[in-house]
Amino acid sequence: MSGLPRPAGRPAIGDPRPHEAAAAHVTGRALYTDDVALRTHGVLHAHPVQAPHAHARVTRLDPAPALQVPGVVRVLTAADVPGVNDAGIKHDEPLFPTEVMFHGHAVAWVLGETLEAARLGASAVEVDYTPLPAILTLDEAIAAESFQGARPRLERGDVDAGFAASAHVLEGSFEMAGQEHFYLETHASLARVDDDGQVFIDASTQHPSETQEIVAHVLGLASHQVTVQCLRMGGAFGGKEMQPHGLAAVAALGAVLTGRPVRLRLTRAQDMTMSGKRHGFAATWRVGLDAEGRLQALEATLTSDGGWSLDLSEPVLSRAMCHVDNAYWIPHVRVDGRIARTHKTSQTAFRGFGGPQGMLVIEDILGRAAAALGIDAAELRRRNLYGEEQTTPYGQTVHDVGRLHRAWEQVLTSASYDERRAAITAHNAAHPHRKRGLAITPVKFGISFNFTAFNQAGALVHVYKDGSVLINHGGTEMGQGLHTKMLQVAATALGLPIERVRLAPTRTDKVPNTSATAASSGADLNGAAIRDACEQVLARLGPVADRLRAETGQEPAWAELVRAAYLSRIQLWAAGYYRTPGLSWDMVAMRGNPFKYFAYGVAAAEVEVDGFTGAYEVRRVDIVHDVGASLSPQIDIGQVEGGFTQGLGWLTLEDLRWDTGDGPGRGRLATNGASTYKLPSLSEMPAELNVALLGPDPEPSRTQAAVYGSKAVGEPPVMLAFSAREALRDAIGAFAATGGTGGPGAPGCGPVVELASPATPEAVWWAIEAARAGAGEGETDDETSTSEVSGTSGVA
Ligand code: MTE
Ligand code: MOS
Repeated sequence: MSGLPRPAGRPAIGDPRPHEAAAAHVTGRALYTDDVALRTHGVLHAHPVQAPHAHARVTRLDPAPALQVPGVVRVLTAADVPGVNDAGIKHDEPLFPTEVMFHGHAVAWVLGETLEAARLGASAVEVDYTPLPAILTLDEAIAAESFQGARPRLERGDVDAGFAASAHVLEGSFEMAGQEHFYLETHASLARVDDDGQVFIDASTQHPSETQEIVAHVLGLASHQVTVQCLRMGGAFGGKEMQPHGLAAVAALGAVLTGRPVRLRLTRAQDMTMSGKRHGFAATWRVGLDAEGRLQALEATLTSDGGWSLDLSEPVLSRAMCHVDNAYWIPHVRVDGRIARTHKTSQTAFRGFGGPQGMLVIEDILGRAAAALGIDAAELRRRNLYGEEQTTPYGQTVHDVGRLHRAWEQVLTSASYDERRAAITAHNAAHPHRKRGLAITPVKFGISFNFTAFNQAGALVHVYKDGSVLINHGGTEMGQGLHTKMLQVAATALGLPIERVRLAPTRTDKVPNTSATAASSGADLNGAAIRDACEQVLARLGPVADRLRAETGQEPAWAELVRAAYLSRIQLWAAGYYRTPGLSWDMVAMRGNPFKYFAYGVAAAEVEVDGFTGAYEVRRVDIVHDVGASLSPQIDIGQVEGGFTQGLGWLTLEDLRWDTGDGPGRGRLATNGASTYKLPSLSEMPAELNVALLGPDPEPSRTQAAVYGSKAVGEPPVMLAFSAREALRDAIGAFAATGGTGGPGAPGCGPVVELASPATPEAVWWAIEAARAGAGEGETDDETSTSEVSGTSGVA
């Protein structure tokens, strides 16, 4: 290869290396937004005035008493907004509202010389409210027909014909809870104004360009007058994709009005009461299966709890609907979606972005159907897995699904599934009060933003005269290891040791018009943009390298090449760009190829449940996850472990409780701290957690993965936790008088077990009670039941 300099040395991709800032994280050296704020001279502190009603009209707001409080500098209200008093991308989120839409909604903000002064000032602001009726639950919203946004339908085939041809038709309903992000770093921003009125904001945001846009709107400025920087985030998980904008705008407004830097960092309780969470969903469904348990038809309505404004609820719903198949072929499908408007925080992106909620519906259906049909749940799932070249309900071909089948087989082997199934049956026969359960579940997750325009990215690569390299890209670092991977990509593309490359913080004045770092596609998009920039630089260096080779008869060293190129007036930096090819999506018809490829994974989990209390432990989990050719195996394994654990928390422990009573606290989030909101900790981790990455294919892949054959990893592992939930269902079934595991029909088939989500110990105990009371003996008319509405054969 004459021309392009030959990349030398070992490629940095594929190298199992620690997170680029791991040492800084654990020593406390790493700077987060609020660390910068606390080092900023003359900074003012912002504190919200939070409404004590879920729904109310503000009839009077008097800041005067607050201004009497020593140290209070200014009270920010709607009257102060020079631009648009709205922080939502959908223009449905007044920043300073006159109508309170959830308990804890901020109606004004107070700036103080100290946080304490601001806090005292906030409690001195006088606000009168006229309370209004509040809708809190999905049931209430559905009854009141309180919906917002689009109501899409996803349809393929002829569901009526599918049901007519089914041997079994089951129906039921299911409600799943949302989830608090509980990033360690709460929402934070720091705003400053320069002598020219330019606004500079440090923010903990996954979407700096959108934060910039919203701040500009609120301040009535053009985008080029506002710069947003994100140093890093102490976790985000989707919670900082859209929610930071209004908070940054408040800080920016304060800075503009006072001329001083303004710091806004929420306390944990403020963060939990004010920021959006994972959407809870309700689903009603009807499913048809043939005599062998193959899915024939699915009809479902998914209703998400959007909270008070739209935020990202529409794309979240769309991803939920596009994942209702999970990894299963369903010939005839009709799914309707709608978003409830409730008087709660505005629910938002959360790792998986609706995918987990959609997929949980079909996993719950199959978990119930296995018992109803008397087919082992693992066998029922395997029978329904997509085959090569089958298409999803929205019409996209499921390429490379052989990798999913391979992962499934690998888990069965590495987990000794069959032996342990037999051992569990023996254990359960011998232990009346402690039962074990085992389950295996697949994951198929589409990679790319459903919103096609977001699938683009930019990067800057600077090569300095001394040969050192500085890269900048549009993605943000939230602990997921994106920057580590980007350093590896740049080092590999340029053929340099990774130590020669440095990465500078994400800023909107370096790379403009960026997309959120989300949809797991940070590495795909930004990696490809960085690679593009590196290749542009290399292409320009090519002729210089040729000349040096001709002159010296040797391959020029990098520093020598760069120096010679500079002296020859060759541009040593480049802006890279990438847009994902081949995407198409009709969001009204819900058809097309919204995803570049699918990420796959399989997990098997074993649990043990105590019959007296419902308490349980996860004994062992075996995972095989598909990241293609891993860019950074240590990072990827960390993502799989972390994602699984976060999914486990959502499905088994984390229980958001709002006060739904009629008292004065109606609408208050009762679980507003770690004391009341149970997160997974070391004691809830599986006693044994085995994670393997799926190796390369013997056959070349059909999937055009973005960077060096790697696949995205950020979100898909969350849904591996379905295995633990299904294992709980299996163990609960074993408590039934009918025998449970090893009971009627087939091994692993007890009665139909209905399990709430989250399956907290309390919920598990109730499910055990139901199983003991003889669930499975017949149909119940409980509205959450699974009932066989028609069946012609095969039911034991
Ligand atoms: N990992 C850590 N440690 N912290 C996070 O906040 N966010 C997740 C995932 N992994 C997150 C994380 C979410 S919601 C997404 S979409 C991806 O990381 C985003 O980063 P990526 O696109 O670079 O994978
Ligand atoms: Mo992740 S929910 O796409 O930020």
